[in-house]
Amino acid sequence: DFYAIIPAGGAGTRLWPKSRQASPKFLHDLLGTGRSLLQATWDRILPLAPADRIMVVTGAAHAQAVRSQLPELLDTRLVEEPSPKDSGAAIGLGALLLYRNNPDAIVGSFSADHSITNPYGFRDVVQQAIDAAQNGDIVTVGITPTNPATGYGYIQVGELLGTPGAPFARRASAFVEKPDAATARQYMYSGTYRWNAGMFIARADALLGHLKANQPELYAGLETIADAAGSDDYDSVLAEVWPTLPRIAIDYAVAEPAAAAGAVAVVPGDFGWDDVGDFASISKLRQPVPGEGDAVTVVGDDAAVVSVDATGVVVSDQKRLVALVGVEDVVVVDTEDALLVTTRARAQSVKDIVERVKAMG
Ligand code: GDD
Ligand code: MG
Repeated sequence: DFYAIIPAGGAGTRLWPKSRQASPKFLHDLLGTGRSLLQATWDRILPLAPADRIMVVTGAAHAQAVRSQLPELLDTRLVEEPSPKDSGAAIGLGALLLYRNNPDAIVGSFSADHSITNPYGFRDVVQQAIDAAQNGDIVTVGITPTNPATGYGYIQVGELLGTPGAPFARRASAFVEKPDAATARQYMYSGTYRWNAGMFIARADALLGHLKANQPELYAGLETIADAAGSDDYDSVLAEVWPTLPRIAIDYAVAEPAAAAGAVAVVPGDFGWDDVGDFASISKLRQPVPGEGDAVTVVGDDAAVVSVDATGVVVSDQKRLVALVGVEDVVVVDTEDALLVTTRARAQSVKDIVERVKAMG
């Protein structure tokens, strides 16, 4: 009884000004596939769960855009949040609503904004994770780290579990969300840690049990909301309770404490995963446009780019021409109300500029 939950929130600040609060990255076709990151997520999950078993949890402000991008999504499977409360509340409410429908539900949550180049590998790994979740473990997917990134969760890999159907599943001996740089470096070189791919597969009752034990206040609020589901009071209960919920990511609310309790398993998953975190990753995931000049990657249907001796990435939704001469690894993002210029090497720092822009008001 497998169901998928796609939490679609977050602002994607490292992709500013393309990704905004009003128009977050999951709604954009950043990889030039003809499908937004959210639609690509849906497509990837569909062979594992039919449309009526896929739930999307998103901000009320984005519900209309999600509906029009995913016409097959059932109204009853679209959960709207009055405000962002991070992935703990989003996945928790999704899991609780599914559990109330079907106490035997196994749920998998999948980020709305990732790139996966090998969908067959992805499906095989999720199938293994579903098998490994039967005994009540919280099952994560572990990616081999390639750099000491500080924006990911790290899973320490322990002994082989010998689960039928999941020959590579291992005990997670620890889960550490977003370690500092020195710790990340140590984890990476130890060879015993993997990146958390942002996927959690578990029996709904097991996931909710951990949430209740570790975040009782959040869990109680979600229960009050779920109790009102299907009734005329739902909207008013949601409006009243939601703002009181603690804002916490699922990684802290469930994964870290569950791993400390020995209840997390990890399935290795190297299927060309990328979290499309910044403009440098976009330029790696897309081909430079042939004939556009040097090695300039162009994102945007209407973008017109001319270049001489230039490399980098241009993202534009403007009609005007972008001309590059003699610049290396430049990132130019041209939108109606803001122009960003940086380099691929500094693409991670865009989130810092967003803080400054916010402070300007
Ligand atoms: N509905 C909803 N509401 N969804 C949300 C909210 C929210 O308030 N906040 C975040 N999400 C969704 C995002 O859209 C994404 O699909 C997922 O929850 C994860 O949130 P991120 O904000 O992208 O988390 P992260 O990237 O910092 O870290 C997570 O993903 C990493 C891999 O990309 C963690 O799980 C890390 O451990 C992991 O390595
Ligand atoms: Mg993310």
